[in-house]
Amino acid sequence: FMPPAESTDAEGGVLAKDKIGHPIPASQILVQASGTRALIAGLAGEPTYLTVREDGTLDPMGIVNNCTHLGCTFPWNPVDQQFQCPCHGSRYDAQGSVERGPANRPLKLVHVQVKDDYIWISSWQETDPRTGEKPWWV
Ligand code: FES
Repeated sequence: FMPPAESTDAEGGVLAKDKIGHPIPASQILVQASGTRALIAGLAGEPTYLTVREDGTLDPMGIVNNCTHLGCTFPWNPVDQQFQCPCHGSRYDAQGSVERGPANRPLKLVHVQVKDDYIWISSWQETDPRTGEKPWWV
């Protein structure tokens, strides 16, 4: 796996990287079971969850691991199918919508695109499909 010379694309996207800053090939994540949430470093190094779909591709919607209450990071709970924040108990569904507060805004989204096994992360500026509204982070 040879990362491209540039790690930023024309649209301002960045390559998904691991903890030590190396680009992660999509194939490395896609060997995992469907439903897996894989944590990568995305835009500005923000920890971001990628989802392996049932058809063996990556979900084009990445979820930023930053609780909208006070910014804690949180694990994915595969049994409850929720992101569960350990700080004050907020819970989010698999798409990042709030199921229980104190958080009151959905988790931030990013675009996820795979090209030649590289995973590109770019900012989500369009309507938030979960709310049908302009995203709160834009
Ligand atoms: Fe997540 Fe408070 S920071 S619930």
